[in-house]
Amino acid sequence: MKMRLKAKKVLLTSAKGGSGKTTTAYNLAAFAANDGFKVGIIDLDTQGALTSWWRMRPAEAPEIRHFHAGMNDFGRAFEAAERAELDLVIVDTPPAVEAFDGAIRLLVRLADICLVPSNQGGVDPSVATHWLKFLKREGARAACILNRAKTNSRSFQPTKIELQFAGKLCPFEVRDLEDIKETVTLGVGVVELVKANGVGDYRGVWAFVRSELGLGEAEG
Ligand SMILES: Nc1ncnc2c1ncn2[C@@H]1O[C@H](COP(=O)(O)OP(=O)(O)OP(=O)(O)O)[C@@H](O)[C@H]1O
Ligand SMILES: [Mg+2]
Repeated sequence: MKMRLKAKKVLLTSAKGGSGKTTTAYNLAAFAANDGFKVGIIDLDTQGALTSWWRMRPAEAPEIRHFHAGMNDFGRAFEAAERAELDLVIVDTPPAVEAFDGAIRLLVRLADICLVPSNQGGVDPSVATHWLKFLKREGARAACILNRAKTNSRSFQPTKIELQFAGKLCPFEVRDLEDIKETVTLGVGVVELVKANGVGDYRGVWAFVRSELGLGEAEG
């Protein structure tokens, strides 16, 4: 019998609300599930946006296991996910996560990779830079993802350069797209929509995450 390895854990985290943590979490989960991986999502945000998305998931869509807990009692959700013998667990965190000092430090140590989405322009890239420095100090493996990218706008290239200097930057950005925005009420990732814009964007991000984690082919 083949021994199942421990699930790889991806933590979505940022010090900025609305940066795209939940959207990135479920789109990566959908990609992984469609590639045949046993996937779970853990929602640590009491507002439950990821949980609401999961509840709308169509019955015929590839299975994604779901766990919900608070930032201060995430242990039981992690244990339940461990018992489910998954390949990959994607963890979503609430905004203002820096308020949960002890919990976030523990979480980043448990994660195989921390992903920090950043919107383009405004204060977002500098907040992401600050957060990446914190993650580095904590000894975490971390990478930034430029989200809601407006590739034709003036701030696109400077934002990428700023994030590149801050640490590891996912080489694929996710554009600001209506089709991505709409998935939140559908319970699917863009990869599960017919002819949706943004599939290639997340395919790139998923390929990056997969290679960072050394995740080979799904066992099936
Ligand atoms: N690439 C994108 N294109 C279009 N809309 C997007 C994209 N990414 C996120 N959004 C939209 O931006 C808003 C914020 O995204 P999301 O909820 O994923 O951020 P968050 O970091 O989880 O927020 P919070 O900190 O409040 O939990 C949502 O309305 C979402 O649909
Ligand atoms: Mg969220």
